[in-house]
Amino acid sequence: MDNHKDLKNISSIYKTDKLEHGYIEIYESYFNQIKDKKLKILEIGIADGKSLLTWSDYFKNSKIIGIDIHKIDIVEKKLDRKNIEVHQGSQSDKQFIEEIIKKYTDFDIIIDDGSHISKDVKKSFELLFPALKDNGLYIVEDMQTSYNHFFGGNPFDLKYSNSHMNFFKNLTDSLNYQEIANPFYLKKKYDSKIVNISFYHNMVFIRKGNNNRASKEVINHSYEDMKYLEKSNRTGKKFKYFLKYKIIYKIYTLLLFVFHTIKKILLLRI
Ligand SMILES: C[S@@+](CC[C@H](N)C(=O)[O-])C[C@H]1O[C@@H](n2cnc3c(N)ncnc32)[C@H](O)[C@@H]1O
Repeated sequence: MDNHKDLKNISSIYKTDKLEHGYIEIYESYFNQIKDKKLKILEIGIADGKSLLTWSDYFKNSKIIGIDIHKIDIVEKKLDRKNIEVHQGSQSDKQFIEEIIKKYTDFDIIIDDGSHISKDVKKSFELLFPALKDNGLYIVEDMQTSYNHFFGGNPFDLKYSNSHMNFFKNLTDSLNYQEIANPFYLKKKYDSKIVNISFYHNMVFIRKGNNNRASKEVINHSYEDMKYLEKSNRTGKKFKYFLKYKIIYKIYTLLLFVFHTIKKILLLRI
């Protein structure tokens, strides 16, 4: 094992295509500070094992776990190392992923370099995100397949299709979910659980963490309720501000809500 080189050097030794894709520089900017820690790193997609060997050298104190739908010959691929473990199964197979989580409990870093098919990418995220530690990173490579119908992506409807790019784009709203001034807003699965989402060329990084900061604009997703409290407490004019915020502004918000709900139904965006 080579423990003394930087990630670029190690990647070129093993000839991982992460280097030619331009991923290694981005990875190094995230991993440089944590490379000596004792981490649990899961990568979906092993193929020739080039990336597992790269991580094995770079994260010398960490456990590298690889999963692949195909059987991987660990001796032939030279993956029979102390800090590498390999399992066969599909990234979208609930039972298999649950067994992996049961075995390892949680992960510091999860990298999806598997099938790159939209439904698999989204399913693995759904299954594995709960097992990501706080401050952990979930990374998806080769996001370009999102724009390709041969991978279940959609090159014809970039904004509203079910592609995995749109899935992650929509997750950005979870960063600010407390600010959404819709009194009928229902908290979504990933709201409050993500602190950062960074998009790069064909790559996305999601940082897990507690994101429960209260809004300064709304209370329980209502601008009217926040304003009513603020103004009536400050001036004591409860009736005036009740009429203004709880009746007039609320009716306006309600009308907008109904209008947008009908629009979403007509455009099949529900
Ligand atoms: C791009 S290669 C992985 C390359 C490797 N991570 C590297 O950087 O050297 C993709 C791998 O994903 C595997 N794969 C495809 N579909 C999968 C699935 N549903 N679940 C798990 N692995 C899958 C393939 O067998 C293939 O080995």
